[in-house]
Amino acid sequence: MEIVIHESPEQLARLAASVITDTLRTEPHPVLGLATGSSPLPIYAELIRLHRTDNLSFAHATAFTLDEYVGLPPDHPQSYHQVIREELTTHIDIPDTAVHSPDGDLTRITTAGERYEQDITAAGGIDVQILGIGTDGHIAFNEPGSSLRSRTRIKTLTNQTRQDNARFFDTLNDVPIHALTQGLGTILEARHVVLIATGQAKADAVAAMIEGPLTAACPGSVLQLHNRATILIDEAAAAKLQHADYYRTSYERKPSWQRL
Ligand code: F6R
Repeated sequence: MEIVIHESPEQLARLAASVITDTLRTEPHPVLGLATGSSPLPIYAELIRLHRTDNLSFAHATAFTLDEYVGLPPDHPQSYHQVIREELTTHIDIPDTAVHSPDGDLTRITTAGERYEQDITAAGGIDVQILGIGTDGHIAFNEPGSSLRSRTRIKTLTNQTRQDNARFFDTLNDVPIHALTQGLGTILEARHVVLIATGQAKADAVAAMIEGPLTAACPGSVLQLHNRATILIDEAAAAKLQHADYYRTSYERKPSWQRL
C-alpha cells in the first residue's frame, strides 16, 4: 500500500485524478471503476475541470460503478446508475452506453452478479478502481464478514451503512436493504486501486484497513493483499494511524521518477 496523507481534500483529489489522467492518456481503451458516495466527489469535480480546460477525453473509456441498490429503478435519483451520471459522466465525453452499473432489477437479480462480472471481463478488466471506505470498514458494499475472495453478488447492508446513507434519502426507511456489489475478489483484480477517505468519522476504519489484521471483519483490509493500492487520506482520517509519520516521510522521499 502507498499511503498519502495530505491536509487538503482538493490536493488528494488532484492526485487521484492524475492516476486516471495517466491511464486515459496511455491506455487505448481505458476501463475505470467508479465509486459513488461523497468521498470521490472532489475527484470527479477535478476530472470534469480537466475535461473542460485541458481537453482530457474519456471518449474511448468504459466505466463500471462498484455497486447498485437492489430494487431502485435506474432513473431513481439515488440509484447509482443515476448518481454517477449526475456527478460525473454526463459532464464528460464518455459515451452513455459505456457507463455500466449492476442490474438491480428484482426480476433479473439472480443472474445480475455473474452478468456484471462477464461485462467487466469482456471490457478487459478494470485499469483504475476508485474506492471509498465505509465507517464500518466496507469497500464497495462488502460489509464486515464478506468473503475475501467474493465476486459480484447481493449483500445485506448493515444498519450503520443504512444510517450513514440515509442523508441521501427522505427517511431511513427509504434506504434499500440490499445492494449488488463487486466482490472483494473482483476489486483485487483491478490493476490499480485508489481509495480516498476524508474526515474524522473514517479514522477507525482507515486504521483498521491499513494497520489492522487482514480480516473479513474489516473488508478494506483486503487491500493489504493488493500489489498496487494507493490510499489517499486527509489528516483527520489519518488520526488513528500509528505509523503516520513514516507514511509522510516515505511520500516526501518518494523518488521523483516514481508515479503514484
Ligand atoms: C459507494 C461505495 C461505498 C462508499 C462508502 C463511503 O459506491 O461503494 O463503499 O465508498 O460507503 O461512502 P462516503 O464516501 O459517502 O462516505
